Amino acid sequence: MGEASATKPEGDGADAGDGVIATRALTKRYRGGQLAVDGLHLTVPAGSVFGFLGPNGSGKTTTIRMLMGLIEPTSGTAHVLGRPMPRSARAVLPHVGALIEGPALYGFLSGRDNLLRYDAADPTADPRTRRTRVAAALDRVGLTAAAGKKAKAYSLGMKQRLGLAAALLQPRRLLVLDEPTNGLDPQGMREIRTLVRELASDGTTVFLSSHLLDEIEQVCTHAAVMARGRLITQGPVADLAAGARGRLVVTTPDPADAARVLKEQGVADVVVDGERVTGELPERDLAEVNAALVTAGVRVRGFGVERASLEDAFVALTGEGFDVAG
Ligand SMILES: Nc1ncnc2c1ncn2[C@@H]1O[C@H](COP(=O)(O)OP(=O)(O)OP(=O)(O)O)[C@@H](O)[C@H]1O
Ligand SMILES: [Mg+2]
Repeated sequence: MGEASATKPEGDGADAGDGVIATRALTKRYRGGQLAVDGLHLTVPAGSVFGFLGPNGSGKTTTIRMLMGLIEPTSGTAHVLGRPMPRSARAVLPHVGALIEGPALYGFLSGRDNLLRYDAADPTADPRTRRTRVAAALDRVGLTAAAGKKAKAYSLGMKQRLGLAAALLQPRRLLVLDEPTNGLDPQGMREIRTLVRELASDGTTVFLSSHLLDEIEQVCTHAAVMARGRLITQGPVADLAAGARGRLVVTTPDPADAARVLKEQGVADVVVDGERVTGELPERDLAEVNAALVTAGVRVRGFGVERASLEDAFVALTGEGFDVAG
């Protein structure tokens, strides 16, 4: 681990222009033998809010630590802002705000003093504007009222907010947030989502990891799904959800007749559940399917398409629920 050697020449990055973050065959095997990240090809487009999704233990934090140059990959490459990591960490990291699992805080200092100290460690930060910068960051994460309290007395959610404030002290090209809403209450989660949208609209690319599918759906433009160290899919969130196609749903007091007609109309995988009859979306026009039901005397109370969620997509992709692998 430790510092990257400076002996190799810069700019071997054939993939450097490919995204704000680009990894090729990125792999990490921990000393104990655990293959935590396995041949990852990740491309994060500029300007995206990119959700890095996966259950506990799927390799999200390990990937983020490699991206930030905190640990060395076992093999493969990672480029951040077009430069290879960890080799170019010194040039890259000033443009990147990061919140990584369990932010390091001085417990004996207040939240405000933690930020002042953090800001003072940044050689590019002008000391004359330090207090203003810190106050703005505290305000952005809703910690102004608690700024004078010692960090060791902060709740998990407050610590998380303080870590986020540290990442927001300077305008950044890229924010890397590892489970930013971890420990936050529902109101806090909403605030973070709003904040992420604001940052994105200012042009910052945001890469955030989460195991909460609905959170990713609400805030991200793009997402990648990890399971057991491997990338299962990545792309625009809308496309991922569309990957698990919606289902046709008919509500009727005549479910048996409805099921028969739907099958005749070419609807596959017809399932009857009380008054709800569902099936795969057919190729043909849904208006014709609806007309056929009515013509056959089926009393149709409801007829529509249930949109697939990212969770459906995840289950469809992995064939399993969103649980921890062994
Ligand atoms: N320092 C380490 N030494 C050995 N194994 C590790 C180490 N850190 C993580 N692992 C293992 O690597 C795998 C991936 O862990 P990682 O922390 O990257 O997952 P994660 O996706 O961030 O999970 P979570 O959602 O719980 O934060 C797990 O099986 C974990 O036990
Ligand atoms: Mg993690």
